[in-house]
Amino acid sequence: MCGIIGYVGKSKAVPYLIRGLEHLEYRGYDSSGIAVTENGQVITVKTSGRIQDLKNKLTGIELTAKCGIGHTRWATHGEPDDINSHPHSSMSGLFTVVHNGIIENYLPVKKELMSEGFTFKSSTDTEVIANLLEKYYEGDVVHTINKCRRILEGSYALCIICRDFPDTVYGVRKGSPLHCAESSSGRLFSSDTIALLPYTKSIYTLDEGETAVMDSREISFFDTNSNRISKSADRLDLPERSADKGDFPHFMLKEIFEQPQVLKRTLDSLIKEDELFPELSELKKSFFALQKICFVGCGSAYHAGLAGKILTEKIGNITCTAETASEFRYGNTPLDSKTLCIFISQSGETADTLAALLKAKEKKARTLSVINVRGSSIAGESDFVIYTEAGPEIAVATTKAYTAQLISLYLFALCFAHERWQIKRSERDRLLSELRLLPAKVQRIIDSRDKAELFSSLFDGRREGWFIGRGSDYAAAMEGSLKIKEISYINTGAYPAGELKHGTISLLERGTPVVALCCEERLFTKTFANIREVKARGASVLILACEKSAEALTDEENVLFLPDTADEFACLLQAVALQLLSYYTAVKRGCDIDKPKNLAKSVTVE
Ligand code: F6R
Repeated sequence: MCGIIGYVGKSKAVPYLIRGLEHLEYRGYDSSGIAVTENGQVITVKTSGRIQDLKNKLTGIELTAKCGIGHTRWATHGEPDDINSHPHSSMSGLFTVVHNGIIENYLPVKKELMSEGFTFKSSTDTEVIANLLEKYYEGDVVHTINKCRRILEGSYALCIICRDFPDTVYGVRKGSPLHCAESSSGRLFSSDTIALLPYTKSIYTLDEGETAVMDSREISFFDTNSNRISKSADRLDLPERSADKGDFPHFMLKEIFEQPQVLKRTLDSLIKEDELFPELSELKKSFFALQKICFVGCGSAYHAGLAGKILTEKIGNITCTAETASEFRYGNTPLDSKTLCIFISQSGETADTLAALLKAKEKKARTLSVINVRGSSIAGESDFVIYTEAGPEIAVATTKAYTAQLISLYLFALCFAHERWQIKRSERDRLLSELRLLPAKVQRIIDSRDKAELFSSLFDGRREGWFIGRGSDYAAAMEGSLKIKEISYINTGAYPAGELKHGTISLLERGTPVVALCCEERLFTKTFANIREVKARGASVLILACEKSAEALTDEENVLFLPDTADEFACLLQAVALQLLSYYTAVKRGCDIDKPKNLAKSVTVE
């Protein structure tokens, strides 16, 4: 993870570096720092904590430098304290580096450098890079970078300054993204185009192993043999990703509220004149030949994949799997040209999902990705892409991007099942009409959010809880449990409701909060029996059910009713109710809703 930035221009570097870091803060926010070249000296200011803490530390320090680098960190090696914060300098201070990624062989390299007399101040892998650069330096920085590149294993995007060239920033990448751009305001490097788009839409994306050199005159590019190469910029006609939460107290609440529009926009963009996914016509031709579909993602995106698997298997009559990308990439799932792998990712940059995609391609599987951020790495590598229309998602806990993934996967399942003659046109149209009603139903849930707020008392004073459900209710339970965990720090687990008696039920204590999901009509009586079992043992139960079950639940005290929908789509409505439940639970606990501890929005390390 982490975000890196570099600046060279005619203006003072610090404001550009700080603005860039603020754009990149979603990539990590446990510490941050900058280094600038001031009168031939490299000056580093860094601190643990948020970028605001760095700004506070910089107050009163007059820095006029026009060249510098910056970093916002999500700690991998070494705790997030002042010393481990980036930038890191080599032993003599000749090189100073900011790094996004992980150097996997840093320990043997560090050992060797220490045996040669190099000293280290931090526990990071990054300091190894700075000292390695110093070791191999003979006057030409690009040559030195390429020598070090051959030694360093793992992934990295680096911005480097060298004391000998005070108006120059060097950038190189392997595995982690790095972009640069030139504008009237100056030249910049950034981990993400988001920090460059306010200045220009013309953006260079570094290829694997390429080095870019930025000075007061130009940006030049070099290949892995240090030969100068020409490179053209891509025009990214993307809207600037605004980070304005308007009148909402948190981005998460704002993003929950945006869902009706997001879902409608996503559906509208994927259906043209009654044709589903017109842009996937080539892929659709292969549907009959497919023997298996694998859904792959991380965290919430994996949960969306689980819901996608359940529906596609049900109506498409094809074997489906759902796996987390971190398992899939090292697992043995058989893959071939008769397999379609669907990769789901909001950011399009998640390292494990990207690696899983590359593995699927290597095995000749067909690849389709469901992505929110246009121009992202996963979108670029996939054979086919479905874009969700969630717009920028700022809160770390995903809400609108997740439900946009769900609705896209529902639509995909309808399209697949119909094209493969598993459902009739009339059934496709019935389900499609139901799908089109979801945005309004989500709006109803948002309008009655006071109920979710009220029921959030279930978790008052509790440190743990359970989510249970069967079928697609179980997929919803997984997501609900994750939402509570990540923003309220309550240790919840999600279990298939029928599994409890095989071990987990021994954990149950008087008052243990249990959220029971029972929207799948065909499984209602089964889950209801499991609710009785946990209640009999003292659990405090909140039931999420559709209005059609009201009669069966008249004796139940705590029921959060959701609008009726087809069994197939209830998971999406449950997700919205559970987002609100998690949100209000976290607010009451005084948690940092938009930036929960230890997390980052984009997970670019494995
Ligand atoms: C949870 C959450 C994460 C992400 C996961 C994948 O609220 O946001 O679990 O879903 O890190 O991220 P993307 O979708 O960017 O690949």
